[in-house]
Amino acid sequence: MNASIPDLPSTMQAAACNAYGSPALINLVQTPLPALPADGILVRNHATCVSSADARIRAARFPRGFGIPGRLAFGLRAPRQPILGSCFSGMVHAIGNSVHDVAIGSRLCGMTGLSLGCHAEYVVVRHGKAYAHVPDVVTHHQAAGILFGGTTALVFLRDVAKLARGERLLVIGASGAIGTAAVQLGRIMGANVTGVTSTLNVNLVRKLGAHHVVDYTAQDVGSLPERYDVVLDTVGNLSIADGRRLLAPGGRLALAVADLAQMLTATLLPKVYSASAAERASDVAELVKHLAEGRLRTVIDAIVPLSSIASAHQRVDSGRKVGNLVVDMA
Ligand SMILES: NC(=O)c1ccc[n+]([C@@H]2O[C@H](COP(=O)([O-])OP(=O)(O)OC[C@H]3O[C@@H](n4cnc5c(N)ncnc54)[C@H](OP(=O)(O)O)[C@@H]3O)[C@@H](O)[C@H]2O)c1
Repeated sequence: MNASIPDLPSTMQAAACNAYGSPALINLVQTPLPALPADGILVRNHATCVSSADARIRAARFPRGFGIPGRLAFGLRAPRQPILGSCFSGMVHAIGNSVHDVAIGSRLCGMTGLSLGCHAEYVVVRHGKAYAHVPDVVTHHQAAGILFGGTTALVFLRDVAKLARGERLLVIGASGAIGTAAVQLGRIMGANVTGVTSTLNVNLVRKLGAHHVVDYTAQDVGSLPERYDVVLDTVGNLSIADGRRLLAPGGRLALAVADLAQMLTATLLPKVYSASAAERASDVAELVKHLAEGRLRTVIDAIVPLSSIASAHQRVDSGRKVGNLVVDMA
């Protein structure tokens, strides 16, 4: 237990959100370290990120139809877990009694799912959950930054849409966390990639490997003449009818963002899918391997200290975030 671990402080700094609302409601607090269960791994967190999910939870801004389920999942009147954040990268500081294959001092990144808690100096992850070793060539900023969008893009392209080599992929929202990962992973999977973004981010999306870039400020995406084998919508402003119209015969429309009505519609229509991306250790390891071997890069909008985390939430709320907002915790 914590008390038996040497050199462990009794409290840590964390960003706490004790009410739903604006970024101004986030406060820096000193709080006890999370308890270390027998199957737990305590990580001294060096980097985390503020994701679109963190901003949604903070503001209780759930997709239409998910207001009540969202509050049941995260807390009725305020976040049940006030420390948000689901991605971490740092150094293993202590392990529970039943953990035998993780070394103290090793570099580890991972995700904590609905447990959140990563906007803090120390994070506990359960043995066997979504974490992986971080080789020295990968920085904690890169690792913590890639996980949220990377795991989602991987699940949607590989498992939901079953993207195959040589297929045409359209990524709507190509400059966001999911989008920047999806463009690169689409290339890695051998697809012909088209990214949709605004004028400011056209060059970035091209540099990430997109064969074609559509500037949505100049061209209406729903009426593009091209047809695609997979359309991945990470923005949620394309109607299902327009999305289906963009599909080639046998094509699949994958909705990373869907309100309740769209989710129900997707269950009734062939080749239209919405899902919630699961977090898996194998996917975390795959992303880290791609980073280490130079096939994938973490697009970073900004790196901020924990004391400026409210500004990172503001940036996410703007809808203009480019890639990922990393919080330095070192
Ligand atoms: N289903 C799941 O399992 C799952 C998992 C994770 C996230 N999500 C959801 O997926 C959504 C995207 O997440 P994210 O983290 O990637 O978001 P994000 O990083 O906050 O996305 C911001 C990006 O969206 C782009 N964008 C805004 N309007 C656009 C438009 N009309 N067309 C194309 N691009 C547009 C912006 O680019 P410009 O400035 O160039 O417009 C910006 O770069 C969120 O709603 C999140 O809740 C779902």
